Amino acid sequence: MPIVEWNDSFLVGVEPFDGHHKHLVDLLNRSYTGLVHAAPLENCGDLLEELSDYVSYHFVAEELWMMENSYPRYEEHIAEHNNYIKQLQEFQQDYRQGRAETSLEVFTFLRRWLVEHILTSDADYGRFISTQTHESGRA
Ligand SMILES: [Fe+2]
Repeated sequence: MPIVEWNDSFLVGVEPFDGHHKHLVDLLNRSYTGLVHAAPLENCGDLLEELSDYVSYHFVAEELWMMENSYPRYEEHIAEHNNYIKQLQEFQQDYRQGRAETSLEVFTFLRRWLVEHILTSDADYGRFISTQTHESGRA
């Protein structure tokens, strides 16, 4: 049972970010499944590492894109990204030190954060760029 079911409301209309978000949801689901089914610790740790590497890669790509497109809410967006990275790092650290008792709570946090971030903050840059494209099309 996946922790996040992908649906089209997650689409922000900007590639490659829709593809990135799908991959992130998939990685989150795989990390969660590993944990629920008590996969060997290293497997789960590897997935978490893959998740956090991919998150960093994706955030940098979005941040560059926002800068290039003069997105006005760039700083707030970066602050949200940094908060997510911090939480992921704390979780990885707990996991490495064998303190994973609260992992379901943490996964619930990660899922809520990811979904809310895509549906509000990422959707916002999607709307922004579609307005820009529309306006420049008319000019
Ligand atoms: Fe984002």
